[in-house]
Amino acid sequence: MVDPNTRSGEDDRATGTPAIRWEEPPEGPVVVLLDQTRLPAEEVELVCTDASVLVEAIRSLAVRGAPLLGIAGAYGVALAAARGFDAEDAATALAGARPTAVNLSVGVTRALEAHRASLGRDGDTRRAAQAALAAARRLHQEDAEASARMAGHGLALLDELLPGGGHRILTHCNTGSLVSGGEGTAFAVALAAHRAGRLRRLWVDETRPLLQGARLTAYEAARSGMAYTLLTDNAAGSLFAAGEVDAVLIGADRITADGSVANKIGSYPLAVLARYHHVPFVVVAPVTTIDLETPDGASIEVEQRPGYEVTEAVAPQAPVTGAGGGIPVAPLGTQAYNPAFDVTPPELVTAVVTEEGAVSPVTAGALAELCARSRRV
Ligand code: MRU
Repeated sequence: MVDPNTRSGEDDRATGTPAIRWEEPPEGPVVVLLDQTRLPAEEVELVCTDASVLVEAIRSLAVRGAPLLGIAGAYGVALAAARGFDAEDAATALAGARPTAVNLSVGVTRALEAHRASLGRDGDTRRAAQAALAAARRLHQEDAEASARMAGHGLALLDELLPGGGHRILTHCNTGSLVSGGEGTAFAVALAAHRAGRLRRLWVDETRPLLQGARLTAYEAARSGMAYTLLTDNAAGSLFAAGEVDAVLIGADRITADGSVANKIGSYPLAVLARYHHVPFVVVAPVTTIDLETPDGASIEVEQRPGYEVTEAVAPQAPVTGAGGGIPVAPLGTQAYNPAFDVTPPELVTAVVTEEGAVSPVTAGALAELCARSRRV
């Protein structure tokens, strides 16, 4: 059994500190986050004493990545309830903190429904808070287990797609233990390949503008001891052209009913490159990321981030000079287009790997069947 709160005993874990945990010191319960804005320079924890602090941590990306957002949202509802705040209000604020990753509202709803059901039974607010916490803990645990199963299914698929072994995998953004109760999604597959001696190299896109690849994935890769190389996002084309990429593995923030995949900005160009160069483009995500309520890619709300993330260099240790606190890299007043995500259509996706197995080709029927199977388990 994978325990998301204690990772000790593994010598290749991504960080020494879990991405999120629940604690109950004498002053009252708290949610403790590893502040991802400070990585890789330092492992600093952020202690959330109420849901509003957690909402801000979600907006600032101190806590981020689809599965972890779900877990954080669920703990946030539990925290509000345990501290005597209105769980319904907290749930609304948490679910609205970022719009694209469906896992956030899934996690919030899980904890809120447990809270409502308990309150409806006997009106006892203390018991209702405990029910919300139990739901959050369950989601955290389930995510750890889903992560291990995705790694197994993903590695099996890679071996099938690339029978020669010695995989050279390109990944984008950050999808390891920093976004999960376990070892993550796409990164967990790369890690499984590494442990099996079948990963030749992980190519890590830096992931502009907030550098989740450079700051976080390179950090996880270095800690795991795998062979990895960092590249700028726009170097990917020349890497494909040189025949250096065997497969692309990415995560997802939302997969719609028709199989469209929202993921970090820059994922869609990789899918186009992969198709042109006849390279498999594989999406790894838990079933909680599949959103059958949203029909297609055009219906996804893509988060727009502040322009200063593009017009200034993001370096947590940088002197405070620009509006966002970073070093200006464009003339003052320059407008920036800064969507946090893009959408890849299903026809460019070779397979979606979940804890319930892989779907390929990616069709509405196959995704619906997989979700129905998962609900029956
Ligand atoms: O803006 P972020 O850092 O939250 O974006 C994260 C991503 O796009 C990840 O690739 C996605 O959430 C999948 S994580 C398993």
